[in-house]
Amino acid sequence: MAGVLRIHVSGTKNQVAFKSVTKQTFKRPSVIRCAAYSPKKQYNIAVLPGDGIGNDVIPVAVDALRLVGSLEGLEFTFEELPIGGVALDLVGVPLPEETLRRAKQSDAVLLGAVGWPQWDDQPKHLKPITGLLQLRAGLEVFSNLRPIRVFPQLIGSTCLRTETVQGVDLMIIRELTGGIYNAQPRGFTTNEKGEEVGFSTESYSSSEVDHIARVAFEIAKQRRGKLCSVDKAAILEGSMLWRKRVTEMASEYPEVEVTHLLIDTAAMDLIRHPKQFDIILTGVMFGDILSDLAAVIPGSVGLLPSASLGDSGPGIFEPVHGSAPKHYGKDTANPLASVLSAVMLLRYGLKEEKAAKRLEEAVFDVLDRGFRTRDIHTTGTILVGCKRMGQEIMSSLNAKVLVSNGRFN
Ligand code: IPM
Ligand code: MG
Repeated sequence: MAGVLRIHVSGTKNQVAFKSVTKQTFKRPSVIRCAAYSPKKQYNIAVLPGDGIGNDVIPVAVDALRLVGSLEGLEFTFEELPIGGVALDLVGVPLPEETLRRAKQSDAVLLGAVGWPQWDDQPKHLKPITGLLQLRAGLEVFSNLRPIRVFPQLIGSTCLRTETVQGVDLMIIRELTGGIYNAQPRGFTTNEKGEEVGFSTESYSSSEVDHIARVAFEIAKQRRGKLCSVDKAAILEGSMLWRKRVTEMASEYPEVEVTHLLIDTAAMDLIRHPKQFDIILTGVMFGDILSDLAAVIPGSVGLLPSASLGDSGPGIFEPVHGSAPKHYGKDTANPLASVLSAVMLLRYGLKEEKAAKRLEEAVFDVLDRGFRTRDIHTTGTILVGCKRMGQEIMSSLNAKVLVSNGRFN
């Protein structure tokens, strides 16, 4: 693809311009201060900022990865590739073949957001979000991990009661490549009255349920051992099978306590008593809804990262928030969801736990020092924009030598 820029950063002092080939672009020189380690491991990261504020927040995550890499002896090569509206502008499709090919060859994909108003009324194959669905399918990332944790420093940013949210630490594990988003048949037709009908199929096969449930049980085992499966088994056949398979699998995991909730009750309980949850296992659509709802708990969707993983191959790491066209280019977006997605990239994608902790600690440090973007700003804290928040993360990374554990809760 013409114009794709390769950025190769080694562990030396470096002046890097990360330039986009796309219209919604970010151009900023970043001076990277690096430690004197000689890099040991090399990783190739596909960077897909996508649309809108994806272009504001992803450069912050790239800078953070580059610096934490240099401090931990990791060498990253970042390759920027178009997806979504910017790809439609460039080559007329939301996921260029070249983007998928290179993403497949990478060690991990760091993604911003997709969606741009100009494309809203286009047919589905010309919608930016179709590019994301195609990327998920192409990389076969069937499990979507969405942790919801409450930062003690941000207790004042949530509209819920302190005692309700304090100490919340849960993870939504959402099936990502099946269900109503993906299953056939789907499309548009005409009914016997001559009316237009749009339809999608909510279906789950036993292998699809088992695949995602196994991931959830394994993660539950490493956490507090509680798994709540969310469905609509009172009505939907796909959910009936879902519940049956999860119940059957539970016998293989006696150490995990399993409960089932219907989606409507789960939505209410998630906000009323979020502390009761450890793992929430659910399908693609209920997971989409619950994860935005869950953003109310920590106080902002600008704090929520995600990881989309397959059995092998690169995962996709992206903030849960969207492209927020209204906020694009105003330097007001919160880059923490992106930076925390970079933490997940290190932790789940590259298995570089030490670097992951270090970057996570930098996020804590920035919050400890009182810096807040608009979405989490409260009286007495320092209101900053996206870029400044990024700079403060870099300062924290540079300043922190030791990484402490257990800062949550
Ligand atoms: C999300 C988003 C996506 C989804 C869209 C952009 C396709 O809402 O990741 O939560 O529904 O999966
Ligand atoms: Mg969503």
